[in-house]
Amino acid sequence: MFTKKTIEDIDCEGKTVLVRVDYNVPISDGKVMDAYRVKQSIPTLKYLLEHNAKPVLISHLGRPDGKPDTKYSLRPIVPVLSKLVGAKVVFAEDCIGKPVQKKLEKLEQGEILLCENLRFHPEETENSEGFAKLIAKPAQLFVQDGFGVVHRAHASTSAVTKFLPSVSGFLLKKEVDTITNVMSEPKRPLMAIIGGAKIADKLDLIKKFISLADIVAIGGAMANTFLLAQGVKIGDSLADREELPLAKDIITIANKEGKEREFIFALPRDVVVATSVDSNANTRIVDWGTHMVADIENYPKRVPRDATIVAEHEKILDIGPFSGSFIAGCMQLTNTVVWNGTMGVTETQSLLGSIGPFAHGTEIVIDGLLGQFGHRPFSLIGGGDTVGYIENRGLVDQFGHVSTGGGASLELMAGRKLPGVEALEDE
Ligand code: 3PG
Repeated sequence: MFTKKTIEDIDCEGKTVLVRVDYNVPISDGKVMDAYRVKQSIPTLKYLLEHNAKPVLISHLGRPDGKPDTKYSLRPIVPVLSKLVGAKVVFAEDCIGKPVQKKLEKLEQGEILLCENLRFHPEETENSEGFAKLIAKPAQLFVQDGFGVVHRAHASTSAVTKFLPSVSGFLLKKEVDTITNVMSEPKRPLMAIIGGAKIADKLDLIKKFISLADIVAIGGAMANTFLLAQGVKIGDSLADREELPLAKDIITIANKEGKEREFIFALPRDVVVATSVDSNANTRIVDWGTHMVADIENYPKRVPRDATIVAEHEKILDIGPFSGSFIAGCMQLTNTVVWNGTMGVTETQSLLGSIGPFAHGTEIVIDGLLGQFGHRPFSLIGGGDTVGYIENRGLVDQFGHVSTGGGASLELMAGRKLPGVEALEDE
């Protein structure tokens, strides 16, 4: 349960309020490609405007190395935010000093000030008190609503709370409440579907779910490393050979768990392969069934060997139809599904503008979560690539909870304390 004060517990009427948001969104050619994080910040901003407060927004974007770089400017957010919030948004060319002060002097009631990228100053990531004092200077209250960044102890998440009364916004509270509830009292059966590239990035999460969930299914490039660890030939697929011992350890832990209680650890048993990551690449399904390569000699003779082996020059780019159906089938038995990481290379567009050639595994997960096969479990979704994909498909409002946090949601799920939350005032 969330135990920190929120904007509803404090008087913000007529105050200048410093709001830490996470507008670290994909921007290409000066255009915002995915505005989900911006959309999710709106309820807090509307509340502040309704209470005649003047919101001064601070955020980071990317990792610009402590110096100004137009590539990482927050300016492209201005029109997007203005449209979503229905108010004028003024931009300040810096997040401290005169540029902020000048724009703030002219800011009318009902308008919002958005400041330039905090990380143009190296002091931000150093959690510098001096810098935090400068950010805090124009405001009377600090509101933390950048859930995506509260796992970092930076000047705008940690040190700043030393200089202003500091409370939570609506997004931060909703994220922490929902995620901690699912992790502490999940409505069972609970399933976790984990994808993405590197096992190391999600190690704690995988381990946590092996002990907590009833079913854990693995997809994405990380599945290749697990398959390799089991002796499956993966050809030219992306895999992290350094993580093989880690993958073996996890398989051992999962097998042990499966002996102690009813628990399923599902790796793909069929995959989509192609020789290049291309929209028009020829794809085929490789299905080794329940036979791993070590066992291939026993595979029924009538099945051509090609159908069961990824060739040297082929890459695994998605889970196969059987694995997708298996995951969707498992979902029918669950009440809660946590999903983090796409099942394949979803970025590759199809030539016809429909589902990409390596996105079908991810699509069947989506179908299952949305109740296309009859049952609709509560879904908790996280991870930049996953959220980006469903946002682009226009489906983001249809799931139980779609987290704005990448690393922050992983750390919260793994049971870690988040410095940006800890620093806020207790209820
Ligand atoms: C994120 O996108 O996960 C957050 O904005 C944090 O970004 P960072 O990993 O660069 O701190």
